[in-house]
Amino acid sequence: ARDLKIAPSILSADFARLGEEVRAIEEQGCDWVHIDVMDGHFVPNITIGPDVVAALRPHCKTVMDCHLMISPADPYLEAFAKAGADIITIHAEAGPHLDRSLQYIRSLGCKAGVALNPSTPESVIEYCLDKIDMVLVMTVNPGFGGQKFLHSQLPKMERVRKMIGERPIWLQIDGGVTPETAPLARAAGVDSMVAGSAVFKGGTPQHYGENIAAIRKA
Ligand code: DX5
Ligand code: ZN
Repeated sequence: ARDLKIAPSILSADFARLGEEVRAIEEQGCDWVHIDVMDGHFVPNITIGPDVVAALRPHCKTVMDCHLMISPADPYLEAFAKAGADIITIHAEAGPHLDRSLQYIRSLGCKAGVALNPSTPESVIEYCLDKIDMVLVMTVNPGFGGQKFLHSQLPKMERVRKMIGERPIWLQIDGGVTPETAPLARAAGVDSMVAGSAVFKGGTPQHYGENIAAIRKA
């Protein structure tokens, strides 16, 4: 596993001041910015679309990590790439042709990620590992911030880490990451962590800095 990349999820930010919030987490030492896209169909919540990603692009110096919880995803991939996404992660469960979708993301000039819901086995990525830049093991059922970390996903992280082998693929987790759960995932081989509520709690840039540092230190 490589150096840990912390990706605050702006789902827990103040949506009325998103540009400012993104600048604040970057100034406070985050590595990537995680953007949760939900369609009210694949998951029971609706968030933001490509126009908001495009509006945030000038405020964001680091990596825009776009997590698409939408189905189908293919018709929207080009819009997210044009909006300035660096990483586009789709769900393995979101469409019938994962291999094709991954190739499409790379052809748009983005890194390609695959997310696995808690009930999805890691075997779905076995035959397309060479088309993947990141595997996201969901540690909650997607849809909302502030849920509890599912310890059941720790063995999956270890198995994915083994499958990755020497390939340059990030292993990310998302959901319920706190200074208490982060070390468990790190020990299981995770090198990128998404954290929403644990980063934005307190509501000021100073809190964000302390919260990011607490996760990194743990
Ligand atoms: C869940 C989202 C997450 C979520 C994480 O559907 O994909 O990124 O915002 O939030 P916390 O860290 O609060 O569990
Ligand atoms: Zn996410």
